[in-house]
Amino acid sequence: MRVFALLLMIFAGMASVQAGESLYDRMGQKEAMARIASRLVDYSVADPRIEEAFAQTNIPRLKGLLTLFFCKTTGGPCTYPGRDMAAAHKEIGIRDVHFNALVENLQRALSDEGIGFATQNEFLALLAAMHGDVVNR
Ligand code: HEM
Repeated sequence: MRVFALLLMIFAGMASVQAGESLYDRMGQKEAMARIASRLVDYSVADPRIEEAFAQTNIPRLKGLLTLFFCKTTGGPCTYPGRDMAAAHKEIGIRDVHFNALVENLQRALSDEGIGFATQNEFLALLAAMHGDVVNR
């Protein structure tokens, strides 16, 4: 009986830790964010559908800003020093077809990182909410 009570406490403890874990934690924290951002940018600059958008961009800077943006957006302990999404994308002329291409590249980067489908969807839902600020023609 005592063993049963102990096991119950352990499981309850595990469940509460899991419930309190942010998306940031579940995605693998800062190093995972950096790999996801880096692969997303690598795939996108090599993607004929959207490569042109990145022609004038400082790629290492973009990777660094995306890492911090993803970290902050998922509840991690980061400060994002970049521009807001509307300001960052207003000169680029992004259409739905470009947005969808980037999301595809992001899904690939998330799968590379071994992130499960449900967690991927949670993350993508956060970014989908920014669609209106990013797509501007
Ligand atoms: C929800 C989707 C997106 C998110 C969360 C996102 C996020 C970001 C962030 C955090 C930055 C850095 C901001 C800064 O420079 O201050 C950035 C810049 C940039 N984004 Fe996005 N982005 C998204 C969609 C797209 C799409 C669809 C494209 C093009 C196909 C794109 C192309 C770019 C480019 C080219 C820059 C760099 C601009 C420059 O060099 O000044 N982004 N994005």
